[in-house]
Amino acid sequence: MRFDVLTIFPEFYESPLRASILGRALDAGQVSCHVHNIRDWATGKHQCTDDTPYGGGGGMVMLAEPLLKSIRAVRAEAEHALGQRPPLVYLSPQGRPLDRDLVAELAALPGMLLLCAAYEGIDERVVELEIDREVSIGDYVLTSGDPAALVLLNAVARRIEGVLGNPGSAPADSFEDGLLDFPHYTRPETIEGLSVPPVLLSGHHANVAVWRRRQQLERTAKRRPDLLLRAPLTDADRRWLKQHNLWPGNADLPIGKKPNPGSSVPESEDAPPC
Ligand SMILES: C[S@@+](CC[C@H](N)C(=O)[O-])C[C@H]1O[C@@H](n2cnc3c(N)ncnc32)[C@H](O)[C@@H]1O
Repeated sequence: MRFDVLTIFPEFYESPLRASILGRALDAGQVSCHVHNIRDWATGKHQCTDDTPYGGGGGMVMLAEPLLKSIRAVRAEAEHALGQRPPLVYLSPQGRPLDRDLVAELAALPGMLLLCAAYEGIDERVVELEIDREVSIGDYVLTSGDPAALVLLNAVARRIEGVLGNPGSAPADSFEDGLLDFPHYTRPETIEGLSVPPVLLSGHHANVAVWRRRQQLERTAKRRPDLLLRAPLTDADRRWLKQHNLWPGNADLPIGKKPNPGSSVPESEDAPPC
């Protein structure tokens, strides 16, 4: 997958793109990331990329001209390399919130351009002329789109085949089956008086699976009841939640609703108490 980032802060990417799993994916050529400085397309002695807003008010607005020139030049270069036109994603607090589904959608693309703005944002005519998607990483405002671009890039890159060292880990992550992940433990068995739950030491795989599913249900009910209402649950899940007073507030309990394929809850006769 090819990413082309357009920014006025190219130095922002130096260390994050070298570290950890993303750094390895870039070294291995599973992902490529080309960072372009919008200022290179700005004219004049000071290569300005912003100006005061029409209508007055505080803050500066990014100029349309260097943006349009940079977008078109970078898009042509990326299109040539990919053999198809990559979409331009504008990181913006007014965009579609980035979630698991959007990340999966973007990960299916061969590449994309990521436009990062600063100040009060960009001249709206650039949005009308060139932007294909607007994506937000949350309901808060950052000083520039660069941290958001890194979040998107990281989340998308880790879905690309071969990027994660352990291919088994991604499907078990939070949100993949509509629920939060279960808790994890490793050595030692006891630390500062806290022991690993005995079921995880039992070697009984069915019981471990039941315990983990119930931990997912309980965590999601307590921390993100909004997710639980949308999650593909089985009747057994719902019954267990109800029995443990974990079904969210006033919501109906739709027992008998067909669960999504792939969400089958392991049910064990001698399931461990949770
Ligand atoms: C200070 S913000 C401008 C905010 C803009 N005036 C508004 O209120 O919608 C500067 C830039 O940071 C980026 N940005 C800020 N918050 C973001 C968010 N939550 N998600 C994605 N990008 C964001 C966008 O590129 C934005 O144009």
